[in-house]
Amino acid sequence: MERPKILVVDDEVQVREMLRRNLTQMGGFPVDVASNGIEALEKMEKDVFDLVLTDLRMPEMDGIELLKAIKANRPEVLVIIMTAYGSIETAVDAIKTGADDYITKPIDFNDLLLHLSKAQKESLLLRENRLLRMEVRQKFEFSNIIGKSQKIQEIFSLIEKVAPSSSTVIIYGGSGTGKELVAKAIHYHSPRADRSFVPFNCGAIPETLVESELFGHTKGAFTGAIQAKRGLFEEAEGGTIFLDEIGTLPAAAQVKLLRVLQEKEVMRVGSTERIKIDVRVIAATNENLEVKMREGRFRDDLFYRLQVFPISLPDLKDRQEDIPLLANHFLEVYTKAAQKQIKAISREAMNFLIEYHWPGNVRELENVIERAVIMSDQEYLTPGDLPDYLREEFSNLIKKGLKSRKSLDEIKDEYILEILRETGGNKKAAADILKVNPRTLYRFEKKTHTNPKA
Ligand SMILES: Nc1ncnc2c1ncn2[C@@H]1O[C@H](COP(=O)(O)OP(=O)(O)OP(=O)(O)O)[C@@H](O)[C@H]1O
Ligand SMILES: [Mg+2]
Repeated sequence: MERPKILVVDDEVQVREMLRRNLTQMGGFPVDVASNGIEALEKMEKDVFDLVLTDLRMPEMDGIELLKAIKANRPEVLVIIMTAYGSIETAVDAIKTGADDYITKPIDFNDLLLHLSKAQKESLLLRENRLLRMEVRQKFEFSNIIGKSQKIQEIFSLIEKVAPSSSTVIIYGGSGTGKELVAKAIHYHSPRADRSFVPFNCGAIPETLVESELFGHTKGAFTGAIQAKRGLFEEAEGGTIFLDEIGTLPAAAQVKLLRVLQEKEVMRVGSTERIKIDVRVIAATNENLEVKMREGRFRDDLFYRLQVFPISLPDLKDRQEDIPLLANHFLEVYTKAAQKQIKAISREAMNFLIEYHWPGNVRELENVIERAVIMSDQEYLTPGDLPDYLREEFSNLIKKGLKSRKSLDEIKDEYILEILRETGGNKKAAADILKVNPRTLYRFEKKTHTNPKA
């Protein structure tokens, strides 16, 4: 909210127009005016305002009623009341009803500017506090991304390289590999860290709503659009938008997103007004976008726009050396949360964890440990605390492994063959080495149909 959009409400046309002129010309604010509460509410449905500056006594609907209506529907909009000099009680009433500030008439313009900047600062603070509260838990240091494998170290260095820029990033990876974690790490290591990180899952809401969510809409743009709304791109101003599951973005929204990336401006659904934006885009997908593009299911121009800085996250089974590290990390987290006294994961249980193929990657591992901590009543996590399917896979592996083991006869045959090869098929020499009768070797060749010279 660099320049809040202001709605001036007053029944006296001179006051209205004086405020409109001064605020626009001297303050540089975008301004609209209304002559009473009803008209003000109508305008607020059609457009998005940040601050309402309203008179108290007006016909139709007065300032207090307007104030109540605004705080009930759009509590984030700031309201400053204008009162006649000397009627301090009404001002106090207004503040009690929820007004953010008041100013006395006749209005001194410099005084008004001071009140505006104070209100603006307070609302920024409120907003930032809210964001901080929400995200303090999610603030990501690299230390939150666990892993020592070569593969994950490479990811760290990619994050370090790309974070300081505003480049578009696309993160590929299977489910639960840490795509969102990496997106946040990039945001919180960028100069945008103190602005918002706005996640949006392209596949989670109905196709018809995707565009209005992302780009906003005007009043009446479609059935149900009862008031104008900012889109997530505008909400993310100065920060980062995280477009998760980008492969599921509907075709029409793909066109619009391409435009936004190229022009750095959005148009709300139902409007032709262009709104400049400064937002970094990080996309993620667990699909192969290139294949989707070749099959004509994803626009190629958008694909290449997104493909500026690709990062591919490895599957957990391809970095087994990180499994004990991650498992112990989650053990610590969930033991603390459950206020239990579990010291470690037994060696046997850890073997199960290392050998499992983890289709749900780190998220699945996290869930398994969380569950095991709840199950456990000992100092160590044992295989009994792990889910059945995990142990079953392990015992199947062992069975399969044992079945594929060689018999003694097979090993004997292989060894004889090896010696025969080394002696160039000379049975006398081979028999000397093996300390057997040469006739054994003739029989061997007949039995196995081998001729090592061939
Ligand atoms: N390297 C890691 N170190 C610590 N925790 C991790 C790591 N990778 C993932 N996690 C944790 O695993 C869970 C899943 O991660 P995240 O949500 O980032 O994955 P994702 O790829 O977005 O998954 P999905 O495809 O299901 O949306 C989160 O709780 C995250 O904190
Ligand atoms: Mg995710």
